[in-house]
Amino acid sequence: MKTTISYGMVGGDINAFIGKVHRGAIAFEPNTTLVAGCFSRNLEKNLLTAQTYRVPADRTYASYEEMADQESLRPDKIDFVVICTPNNTHYAIAKKFLEKGFNVFCEKPMTWEITEAEELERMAREKDLLFGVAYAYSGYHMVKFAKMLVDEGKLGKIINVNGEYPQEWLIDELSETISKTAKFSGWRADPKVSGISNCTGDIGTHIEHTVSYITGLRVKRLCARTDYFQNDLDLNSNVLLELSNGASGVFWSSQVAIGHMNGLRVRIYGTLGSLEWIQEQPEQLKFTPRGEAPQLYYRGAGYVGGRAAELSRIPGGHIEGHYEAFANMYKTYMTALLKKANGEPLTENDLDFPNATDGVEGVKFLHAVINSGKNDSKWVTV
Ligand SMILES: NC(=O)c1ccc[n+]([C@@H]2O[C@H](COP(=O)([O-])OP(=O)(O)OC[C@H]3O[C@@H](n4cnc5c(N)ncnc54)[C@H](O)[C@@H]3O)[C@@H](O)[C@H]2O)c1
Repeated sequence: MKTTISYGMVGGDINAFIGKVHRGAIAFEPNTTLVAGCFSRNLEKNLLTAQTYRVPADRTYASYEEMADQESLRPDKIDFVVICTPNNTHYAIAKKFLEKGFNVFCEKPMTWEITEAEELERMAREKDLLFGVAYAYSGYHMVKFAKMLVDEGKLGKIINVNGEYPQEWLIDELSETISKTAKFSGWRADPKVSGISNCTGDIGTHIEHTVSYITGLRVKRLCARTDYFQNDLDLNSNVLLELSNGASGVFWSSQVAIGHMNGLRVRIYGTLGSLEWIQEQPEQLKFTPRGEAPQLYYRGAGYVGGRAAELSRIPGGHIEGHYEAFANMYKTYMTALLKKANGEPLTENDLDFPNATDGVEGVKFLHAVINSGKNDSKWVTV
């Protein structure tokens, strides 16, 4: 019986942002080991990262192509690959690893183009491989509890949603006196790397996925106003939308909202009650039943059951945050991998991680927003 998991990583060198979060999150499970990687196209950074994480020299690869080819020939090949490179590379890297028969966990936005995302989704399905997409906010315990309340009918019929993700970190992009190179944005502001969007792709897609996860509804159509402030890509977007059940909603994402760091907040309104969850206070969920006083639920308390309780690691009041949300996503994905390898059937809970279909929806959403914004905010079907 298989009980341990080995994985490889493409991207995520020692100086990169999200790669280390993935590694830390996976390490929450003691039966996992990082054994292979192509952490950077820069040889020095690649080797330094491999040495720091004790990845053997013969499994430190100069390119992702070489990594996929060589790993596929090994009897002890990796169980899955994590892709945490910039947006322009996700499609080619994921395709190569799927072709070689590997399970994939890919950063978002899944691809540049909708057709590319759909192709990866189809390949994973046809090859019976597990494909995860790193929409980690649905890994938070209280987001899972919110979904449970909705599934139990506590909100009644969903009639309106409101999501926002304001950040301030790219406010310098609006400055005419600060030089391009001194600005923070790096590849995110470059259409050749980021694709058609910066802000909406980077953080707007997180709103879309979190709302969709909690409600079980998809965005059906939308109209958007996107703000570029003389930059090549959007830095702010306001989206008016209709969900698959006819409910309406508003999503706002911004990288130029002074006073906000990672201010993801979602509010869901139904005929019987409402929910509010704020990423910067992730252990709380506000639930207001119709005609009653608002109630605050806390992770770790006895009254919080379901997946939120199952995935809790430490007692309530000791805050579980961003790393744990990623870890919950990976724990679920890796449990599914092990069960699958051992021929066990997968339950609904085993599949409770963001998948390729969610990835496709995210790419469709961001294309619809940018398309609408460029066409005088016309309504666009997602
Ligand atoms: N899920 C989330 O919450 C979240 C958060 C941050 C970033 N992201 C996504 O993660 C991805 C990476 O973002 P980041 O901020 O970590 O970027 P980053 O620039 O900090 O890191 C990118 C890494 O990829 C490496 N790289 C680039 N091309 C490569 C290639 N062809 N082969 C091997 N390595 C290569 C770089 O050397 C670097 O190590 C982006 O798609 C971004 O949208 C997601």
